[in-house]
Amino acid sequence: PLADSPAVRRLADWDAARLSELADEHGTPLYVTDLDRVAENCARLRAAFPDADLRYAVKANTARAVLEAVGEAGLGAECASAGEVRRALDAGFDGADVDYTAVNPPARDLDAVVEWWKEGADLTITVGAADALDRLRERGYDGRVCVRVNPGVGAGHHEKVRTGGAAKFGVPADRVGEVVASARTAFDVVGVHAHAGSGIHGEADLAAHREFLARVAELAAAVDDLEYVNVGGGIGVPYRDDEEPLDLDAVAAAVREELDGLDAALALEPGRYVVADAAVLLTRVNAVKGASDELVAGVDAGMTDLLRPAMYDAYHEIRSLEPDSLDREEAPVTVAGPICESGDVFCEGRPLPVPERGDLLALGNAGAYGHEMASTYNSRPRPADVTPSGDVLRERESLADLTRLER
Ligand code: LLP
Repeated sequence: PLADSPAVRRLADWDAARLSELADEHGTPLYVTDLDRVAENCARLRAAFPDADLRYAVKANTARAVLEAVGEAGLGAECASAGEVRRALDAGFDGADVDYTAVNPPARDLDAVVEWWKEGADLTITVGAADALDRLRERGYDGRVCVRVNPGVGAGHHEKVRTGGAAKFGVPADRVGEVVASARTAFDVVGVHAHAGSGIHGEADLAAHREFLARVAELAAAVDDLEYVNVGGGIGVPYRDDEEPLDLDAVAAAVREELDGLDAALALEPGRYVVADAAVLLTRVNAVKGASDELVAGVDAGMTDLLRPAMYDAYHEIRSLEPDSLDREEAPVTVAGPICESGDVFCEGRPLPVPERGDLLALGNAGAYGHEMASTYNSRPRPADVTPSGDVLRERESLADLTRLER
């Protein structure tokens, strides 16, 4: 599927007329997710890392259809919770292709995952602390374990998502030998793991990522008999139209160079790269107010539907899908959601065609950590998610869903 697929799918590449039909049919806010693009992104990763064990970080987008597309493309699944492990197994991933990355794992998650392992799912559990090993042993687990190390260096688009170096994650460098030796008395230690952070893009980040890789290689070199070294996820995508896409081959070359000499296979667990540009979020303008130099377009999507701008000041392209939008004047526009917080804005004073009530807008690159981080704050049902051909991946929640579990 790579032959005529561009390296990055810009918001302008989506068919405005079709998106408009979907919004009319399914209402807004609405996610539109292109599963073909998911498959293309998987193929692109495979081409750049032909020999690596690629495991999709399920947390970026857990829609069943997305998981199935990724599985069909031949990637495994990296899961951050029992819930994600369940979803991966239900979507047809073979247990052997599933990693459970246990970060401060809740007892309930360990119970569930060990239970599924006992039932035959031959998964790998990635552990970042000695006491998690004890907790697995207590539950009768003696399967595959990967040791997460703390390389002391991180990278990524925002401080909140730079995990490498954060005390919360991984075994500190000076304790790796001891923890691996102790793990080997009870488990099959197959790998060493580290994750730098998310949204690695741009030169400074790539330099930090290289430093991270060098450090991981150094820590892994001190451990014998490894099947693989997993360097985590983090491969970024351009969020702004004027940003160039990452050169995946250059990233692959950096990984190869830094890990050169290690007698172990390479594993990676990209999430964002697989799904980010495979979805857009459609939203309708409900109200326009203010003078021409400070227009506010009130839209029906908010931080409950796409949290990234409020949480990380993340930039998402916004495009008017109105046929006459190109003829309109541009003005600085603040696009604001319906939530009772000042942080509930998608952009402030951004040059956009002057909006009118009823306009349809699209937000780009919404496929990674978009629907996935949606919440029902302000009693807002979470949005529907459909494909460009109109198949429903996730229905819109109803008001009844919001109170269904109350007693
Ligand atoms: N592996 C581990 C252990 C991770 O913690 C993560 C992401 C990944 C892989 C995948 O990283 P990716 O390839 O997607 O960058 N909600 C934030 C991103 C949080 C990422 C958390 N961990 C955002 O919207 O930017």
